[in-house]
Parts: sequence; structure tokens; C-alpha cells
Amino acid sequence: MFRVCGVLRSAGTTPMTTLGGILGSKGGLCVARTASSAASKMFPKEEFQSRHIGPRDFEQREMLDFLGYKSLDELTDKAVPANIQYKKKLDISEPLSEYDLITRIREVSEKNEIWRSYIGMGYYNCCVPHPIMRNIFENPGWTTQYTPYQPEIAQGRLESLLNFQTMVSDLTGMEVANASLLDEGTAAAEALSLCFRQNKRRRLVLSDQLHPQTVSVVQTRADSLGLAVDVVDINEADFSNRDVAGVLIQYPDTNGSVHDFTAVVDQAHENGTLVVMATDLMALTLLRPPSDMGADIAVGSAQRLGVPLGYGGPHAGFFACRQSLVRLMPGRMIGVTRDASGGDAYRLALQTREQHIRRDKATSNICTAQALLANMAAMYAVYHGPQGLRDIALKIHNMTLVLADGLHAGGSEVLNPLFFDTIKVRPKLSQADVVSRAAEKRINLRVFEDGCLGVSLDETVKLTDVQDLLAVFGSEETVDSLLSQPGAGTAGSIKESAFRRTSPYLTHAVFNSHHSEARLVRYMKTLENKDVSLVHSMIPLGSCTMKLNGTTEMMPCSFRHFTEIHPFAPQSQTRGYQQMFAELEHDLCAVTGYDRISFQPNSGAQGEYAGLRAIQSYHENRGEQNRNICLIPVSAHGTNPASAQMAGMQVEPINVSKDGLIDMAHLKAKVDEFKKDLSCLMITYPSTNGVFEETVADVCHLVHEHGGQVYLDGANMNAQVGLCRPGDYGSDVSHLNLHKTFCIPHGGGGPGMGPIGVKAHLAPFLPGHPVVNMGGDERSFGVVSAAPYGSSAILPISWAYIKMMGPQGLRKATQVAILNANYMSKKLEGHYPTLFRGSTGLCAHEFIIDVRELKKTAKIEAVDIAKRLMDYGFHAPTMSWPVAGTLMIEPTESEDKLELDRFCEALISIRQEIREIEEGRMDTRVNPLKMAPHTQQQVISSEWDRPYPREQAAFPAPFVRAENKIWPSVGRIDDLYGDKHLVCTCPPILPEFNA
Ligand SMILES: Cc1ncc(COP(=O)(O)O)c(C=O)c1O
Repeated sequence: MFRVCGVLRSAGTTPMTTLGGILGSKGGLCVARTASSAASKMFPKEEFQSRHIGPRDFEQREMLDFLGYKSLDELTDKAVPANIQYKKKLDISEPLSEYDLITRIREVSEKNEIWRSYIGMGYYNCCVPHPIMRNIFENPGWTTQYTPYQPEIAQGRLESLLNFQTMVSDLTGMEVANASLLDEGTAAAEALSLCFRQNKRRRLVLSDQLHPQTVSVVQTRADSLGLAVDVVDINEADFSNRDVAGVLIQYPDTNGSVHDFTAVVDQAHENGTLVVMATDLMALTLLRPPSDMGADIAVGSAQRLGVPLGYGGPHAGFFACRQSLVRLMPGRMIGVTRDASGGDAYRLALQTREQHIRRDKATSNICTAQALLANMAAMYAVYHGPQGLRDIALKIHNMTLVLADGLHAGGSEVLNPLFFDTIKVRPKLSQADVVSRAAEKRINLRVFEDGCLGVSLDETVKLTDVQDLLAVFGSEETVDSLLSQPGAGTAGSIKESAFRRTSPYLTHAVFNSHHSEARLVRYMKTLENKDVSLVHSMIPLGSCTMKLNGTTEMMPCSFRHFTEIHPFAPQSQTRGYQQMFAELEHDLCAVTGYDRISFQPNSGAQGEYAGLRAIQSYHENRGEQNRNICLIPVSAHGTNPASAQMAGMQVEPINVSKDGLIDMAHLKAKVDEFKKDLSCLMITYPSTNGVFEETVADVCHLVHEHGGQVYLDGANMNAQVGLCRPGDYGSDVSHLNLHKTFCIPHGGGGPGMGPIGVKAHLAPFLPGHPVVNMGGDERSFGVVSAAPYGSSAILPISWAYIKMMGPQGLRKATQVAILNANYMSKKLEGHYPTLFRGSTGLCAHEFIIDVRELKKTAKIEAVDIAKRLMDYGFHAPTMSWPVAGTLMIEPTESEDKLELDRFCEALISIRQEIREIEEGRMDTRVNPLKMAPHTQQQVISSEWDRPYPREQAAFPAPFVRAENKIWPSVGRIDDLYGDKHLVCTCPPILPEFNA
């Protein structure tokens, strides 16, 4: 019966790109549903929700008893304000089993057609090394970690990210690089914003030979900062007015040509303009690096280094610059420091630049980046090494040379004097002819408006493909005859040109040691073993929602019909993706109460920026461009003010009262003060303090009354799904961190997805795209990501989660998330007070424990508790945010009672240790907390002079045993030392490995 149900559904889902199409398919579902309820008694079925939700029914009952509630409904009816409760069943389909889900998503994926794509434009097919695919991309030991804020239990991915930085620095020739940005377009936009911040000039110059999506993303960002943009022939650029902040050039350019920009760079520098170069890491294995021409910043995408196309993402953008700009660099950077024993250790460097601390003064709003994909790219370089990369690049280049020879001999004109992998061709045949001949062979080419065609080759290309391309262009040459001619493959070659790379790269031992699969797999495993992830224990990071990332949800991300699709492939080849987007859009609208979703923003912070820009466009469209005040409670996440500032808004903070609620009197006063210029209010709900504020609907109403819009930060949707909907109680727009509530794993700092949901009046202003027609209108505010649908390839995760949970499962997940938080809060009550609760005495899905008093009584701070938790095998809760000196715990619904109890036990036991300090039985400096975490080396050392036993150091609770002990691989990190002695690439180069 259930199989039949699955078949019925998939039969009903003909390709559809509209919401109407989906709604139309539901008639058949209702019939199936009625029949299935009768059958369910006879053939009990396994439901995914019982795998996703941790506590068994009896545990839920025990926890409810403990809290004094009869049912989950009774609990959440009390927790969620009555005036915002959603009483209906969510309009999403009944749950699919894990097995049916895979059948269905495979069918959807296979509606995508895999053609050979030679479109290029920043995206290339590549051979993803299988050991990396399986052991990193598909391995929860690598995918489920959080951003490495707790370095002692994150040394593995910190080392790998340092490898990424070293690789980027080496290949670009720049002194420092960061640990990834979201994509090439946003990296370019960040670079030009840096130029503006550095020299305060208000004009940008862009080459007219950039990828079009890069131009659009930069233009959109510049608009909101009020910067003028000139897109020019770069050889004619004039900097003499000394008003240009930065110039952006591309090397090789979008048509594939390699130019010498030294004169442009010199001229720019003479006039105080910074130079940003967008570049290609694979090409740089053969080409002189940007640093040789004097670039100040190099940006681009590391996608082609072993990361699948995935219809546009996720991929790692990169950013590298001169040392003198390092403190202005956006994003996260890994640095080398030392630990408590003086040994080398890694950690996130210069965090004081980040938005969570500097808010609207931050260097950028970037928070979630692309750590997992950066790790894949770094491991690709580790696996291949400098020689392997050079060989791959050489193969690509030589194939392109042969192709160019053959096209030339066949009567077409190759327009590039020098090139690496991309040529622009004026075909002998008509453009339409070539395109239709290509279609017969299922080949995609880049189509230029001037009648030319572009061809970009990549490492997957074989000589037979080159032969096919020659035929498509009407050349009768054969590859064999071309290769046998003297001088074959020299026209256009960079190999013997002035651009030939002579400087070494990837000389560090790590890039010269792991070239056999056995070595690579062991290296990856060694790193993985140093890190705590969800495969070890709960990671109760408040505001981060570290819930289960189900295997079934993850599996489709590796389906080749999702991974091998170029983002600019014609829509006729991407019907599977379009269907998945449409279904997910429908489901997310049902969950949030919004009318439309844009999938373009690829992180929460990008969503904030996009949502705020949509609000601005809405006001402008109504002739109210003066509205630019953005009210933000002081408790908000730092990305909120950082994004508002980037969107060109003026941030006005709103106070929060002692009980953690928005100070209504202050809000009213501000709304009144700025009523003429009020653009919007940004709030988080439930608040970042972990409380369902009763006033949220009134707050929204108040803002609307004064002509403003409401931006609701959706980071806390895990407390709302199925219980209340932002679109119903007054919000106009939200981002949804799909990497929180909707199960995309955090990947150690990305990827993520931050689609925005909007009410209908904001829909016309949603992001568009310069290459792909997304069906919007000219009122779109612009472009926020390089790819039209952001990191499309991870959307099947959220799609699958919703499809498998169904309406009841989703609601129950939220209820259990709230139950788990309240259970822990109450259990810890006598040991650590919960800082804020709602008027009902309940918290939402997370809560803050106040440990500030312990500083006075025992000189113990939140950080000491965080480090001591590592000895118990746990990752710390969120530290010192939103309230300095506290810890915020978010257990999520995926953790069962046993795990919650273990975590509480650990905290209670730590409280006991603190008591010993308070009571003078333990030294205030040398005690298990201040000395935490304890490494294996410290504990087995023959020297042990501490006033507590080794057992207490390393096995502090009965549940920490030899067979499950997680050893932090380094002792407590010295952050200050690292920031004073900044080293952001792999330590010493071994001379014997110099190329
Ligand atoms: C409340 C809140 N808003 C916004 C963000 C930013 O989201 P992202 O990291 O996806 O950019 C976060 C991230 O943790 C958050 O907790």
C-alpha cells in the first residue's frame, strides 16, 4: 500500500515549476491518505520522526512529569503566546519513509539532464577523488562539526583549513588567505568593500571582462554602500582623479584570455587605488601568480579543486591579500598559536574583527562560510601535491590547445591570443547551427551575444570530447592528425610565454606526503579523530541548532544528477532542480506563513542582507527612499547590525530590559522619534535570550503603524515550526538558516543556506540573476550570490527532512525541542540559574545559564566551564553570547534523555568542583577547571604535580570511561599569543620539498 502511495505521488509529480503545480498534485494524495490510515493498523510502518526525535515516548512522559505537564500540547500551549499560535495542521504532505524518500528524490533528480558542459564562467566539472568524497563529504565525522570556536577539540579541521589557506596563499602568491568565503562573486564584493574601508574613496572600477555574475554581485553591494561603479575596458581605465577605491580585474578573464596587467596595477597604485584580481587556482599552477603583477587582493572559487558543480554550490570562495590588509580581511582565518604546554596549536585568529563582536563596525557580516568545501579542496591539493596539480592543469591546457588548433584549421577563429582552458570562438558556421549540433551530442557551450561561442575545458575532458567539439564546430580535423603535426599545441600556449609560472608552490610537507590512498585516508582519519562532532556527543550550542543531520537526508547530495549540473545549464536540463525548489518553496511557505521564497542567499547573514535590500526597494518603490533607519535590539546576533550597515541603513539599537525582553517603552520612543525615516525593525523570535516574548505581535503592529517593515531573524525557527508562523503574526521577511532548523549539517563552519521568505508585497524585489532568468521583474534589488539558487546541491537535505517528518512530525520535533530545553533548565536549576524565562516560567528551545557570580566566588569564568566540559567528552554551549559571561544551551529534539542527563551530570559535577574552590579546598589557579582541558600526554606524563588526581582530570564522571574517552589533542589555547604573533599558513617549509 505504501509503495503504491509512493508511486502515486511520483506519478503525479510531472515537471512543475509553479506552486500551483504542486498544489494541484495533492488531490491524489488525499485519497491515498484515507486509504493508508486504515491500512496503518494492519501494516505498522516505521516513521522517520522516531529516528529524528531523540527521546522515546516514555522518556518524554518522564520529562513532562518532571516539569508538571500532562502532554506536549499542554507544555507548548503554555510556552507559546496564545495570540500567535498556529492551530491548523501544516499544509505539507504526509511523511514518506526513508526508503520511499530515496526512490522519490532519485526520480526527481533524474529529471535533471547531465550534458557535457563547457560553459565555464567560473564553474568546471572535476574529478572528485573518491576517498575525499566518501571520507569527508559523506562522513558525519567531518560534516557535523560546528565552527571551530573550541580549538582544543577542533585541531583536525583547523589544520585542514590552514592547509586551505596555505594552498591559496601559495597559488596566488599572496601573504595571507582566509578559511573560505561563500563564492567568487561575494568574495569580489567583500574585496572591494575592503578597498572602500581602507581608503574611504567612493568609486570602484570593474573590468568589462569579468564574469557577469561577479559584476552583478559587486554592483548590488556597491549600490547599497552608495559607491559608484564604472565597468570599463581596463586598459583605458583612468585613476588619476585619485577617487577610485579599488579596481577589479580577472586573470584569466571571462573569455579565457591571459593578459599582463602590470601597467594597470602600477597606474592604480600610483594613484592610491587598491587592485583586486579574480583568478583561477588551477590556472595558477601554470601561470605567474597575481602577486607578480602587484595585486593587493586575490579572490575566486576553489570549486574545481575536487568539489562537484552542484548546480552552483556549495563551493568555497577564497580571499587572499597582502599582510598589511590582514586586519581588514573578511571571514575567518586560522592561525598558529601555542597551547598551555607551549606546543604548536591552531585556532581562529583575530576574532575581534568579527561581526559578533564589532556589530555594525565589523569588517563584514560573514559568519557561516564554506569550511567543508574548503577542506575538500585542501585535501585535493594534499592528495595530488604540486606535481599532480601541475599535471592536471597541463592536461587541461594541452587539450584546449589541441581544440584551438583544430578549430582554427577547420575555419573558425579563436579570439584569444593566450589562454589556459577557455577560448572564445567566432565559428565558421552560424552560432545557432553550432548550438544545435552541440545539442545533438548533449553538449553545452557558452553563448555570447556577439555571435561567438565559448568553450571551457576541465580535468574530466578526454581527447574523444575534443574530437566531438571539433565536429560540433564543423571542423573536419581529427585529434590524431592534429597531434601528429609539428608545432601542434603551441598557438595560444602559456607554457613558454612570459606568463609561465616559475615560482614554487605547495612546498610544505603536508602537500608532499599523502599521495597514496592509504596515506590520504589515514591522514583524513587522524584529523577527524581530533575533533568532536555530533557522532560523539550532543553539541548544545545555543542559537546554532545542532540537531540530527539524517543519513537519508544527506544521501541525495551525492546523486550525480544533482552534483554534475552546471549552474548556467539551460532550464530545460534542470527540471529536477526546479521541481525540488518549487516543492521546498511550497513547504517552507507552509511552515512560515510567507508567500514566496528566494533560495539565492547561501548563509543566514546573506539572507539578512537580501531581506533588508528587498525592504529598501519596497520603500523606494513607494517613493519613500528616505526610510533607512533599522531598529535592532542590543541582544541581536552581530550579523544583524553588520548586514544593516552593509545594506546602507543606519542602525539604532533598542534596549532590552533586565528580564531579557525588548524594552517596549524604548521601542515606542524610537519608533516615534524615527517615524518618518523608519525602514524596519530586525528582531529574533523567540528572542536570542531564549524567551517567547508575549509582545511580538504588538511589536510588529507598532512598526507597521509607523510605516516600517519587520525583518524576523529565522535562526530560532526550531522553536516555531508547527506552533506559530512569523508570516501570520506580523513579520514581512525572514531568513531561514536551513543549516539549523532544516538539517543541513554545519560542516565545521559551512556550507549553509539562508533562503528568505517574504510576504507577497516584497516578492517583486527578490534577487534576480544576470545569466539565468529566474522569472522575476525589473524591480529586483539585484544579485546576492554568484549562483542563481545559491548552494542548490544541499537543498535536498531540507527537502527530505520535511518530506519525511510530515506535518505532525515537524510539530512534534518543535515540541520536543522545547521540552528538552525546559527539562535541562529545570534539572540544572539548583546548580546554575537560568537567566531568563517567559512570564509562564518556561523557556523556549534554548536557555542561558548564568555563571557570572562564579567569577566572584571562585574566579571561574564561562570559558573555564567550557574547557572543563571537554574532559567530560562534551562541546561547550554557546559562550558569552548574547550575554557576556554566560552559557547558552540548546539541546534540540534529536538528543534523548540519556544524553541530556549526561550533559546535566557533567555540568553538576563541574559545579561541585567549583564549590571546592569556593570553599578553599582547591587552589584558585591550579584546579581542574583552570587547567582544563587535560590532554592524554599531560595525564600520562611521569610528572604530575597538581593538587587533584589524574583520574579526576581525565575521567571526571562515571560515564567517562576508557572505551569512550575523547581526548582533546592540545591543552588550553593561548589566544593572545596567536594574535600577537600572527601566522596563518602552514608552519616551516621543508627545503627538500621545494619544487
Ligand atoms: C540569531 C542568528 N542570526 C543570524 C545568524 C547568521 O547566520 P549564518 O551563520 O548562517 O550567516 C546566526 C548564526 O549563528 C544566528 O545565531
